[in-house]
Amino acid sequence: MKIAVVGTGYVGLVTGTCFAEMGATVTCVDIDQHKIDGLEKGVLPIYEPGLESLVLKNHQQGRLQFTTSLADAMKGSNIYFIAVGTPPGEDGSADLQYVLGVAREIGQHMTDYCVVIDKSTVPVGTADKVRAIIEEELKNRGVSIGFDVVSNPEFLKEGAAIDDFMYPDRIVIGSDSERASKIMRDLYAPFNRNHERTVIMGVRDAEMTKYTANSMLATKISFMNEIARLCDAMGVDVENVRRGIGSDSRIGFSFIYPGAGYGGSCFPKDVKALIHMAEQHDI
Ligand SMILES: NC(=O)c1ccc[n+]([C@@H]2O[C@H](COP(=O)([O-])OP(=O)(O)OC[C@H]3O[C@@H](n4cnc5c(N)ncnc54)[C@H](O)[C@@H]3O)[C@@H](O)[C@H]2O)c1
Repeated sequence: MKIAVVGTGYVGLVTGTCFAEMGATVTCVDIDQHKIDGLEKGVLPIYEPGLESLVLKNHQQGRLQFTTSLADAMKGSNIYFIAVGTPPGEDGSADLQYVLGVAREIGQHMTDYCVVIDKSTVPVGTADKVRAIIEEELKNRGVSIGFDVVSNPEFLKEGAAIDDFMYPDRIVIGSDSERASKIMRDLYAPFNRNHERTVIMGVRDAEMTKYTANSMLATKISFMNEIARLCDAMGVDVENVRRGIGSDSRIGFSFIYPGAGYGGSCFPKDVKALIHMAEQHDI
């Protein structure tokens, strides 16, 4: 299978490399010429354990290419991942300018049926916007070409990204089309050899799943910090409380260390975006 991954950041580079490692032919696209030049020479823009050797191997073996031209990357492929950033806007909502910009470019260059996959973390309803922009561009060109938009959120953790991608807890695919679901199942088949990990659902359900997962994890961290403050005030050792509750299988030991509040590149912006979605619906 031949795929194009647009946005060669953390998610795009790991996604493209892991699909190449599993036998697909992948072109990673980025507007950052410096990044692409570096990758061509084997210089990675990020450090992630295990990633460098996989990039070098798959690049040398011809399954992983890098370019700044989306039009070139699209040639001979009908599977396009959008993996660009979705930073927070001033009101907390996810800024979709990069995602929608890529959608527009896809609409300008596509020639045959294709599946456009939102891998970026995007609010509920984004696939509809991506679809509308592509349709607008096709109309401007005076052509009619079929396509589907799929949501396939990514759950990898920085620092364990390769393992998370290769052995995911689940692969969430939001698709409202049988044809696109089949293509996605085929694409992810190598990751399901051991057991079926794919969860197929509606597009909007998949978009919401990503925000719900990150917000749930952020909630556990913040909740435990609130408990720690109360413990301090009352002369209780929160470490013992942690061990006491973590052993309950309904709670578990993950994400209940008291300490610094949650941070990183995703939790703060995704929690803000979820709150923004709730406010928009008076919830
Ligand atoms: N980093 C993580 O751990 C992680 C995990 C899961 C999901 N996500 C989500 O995945 C998405 C991408 O995150 P990231 O951390 O990989 O971002 P990133 O900032 O590392 O990479 C984004 C890349 O997209 C490129 N880009 C922007 N516009 C482009 C265009 N028009 N054409 C081609 N390339 C373009 C940028 O130059 C950049 O290299 C975000 O929505 C994020 O929330 C991130």
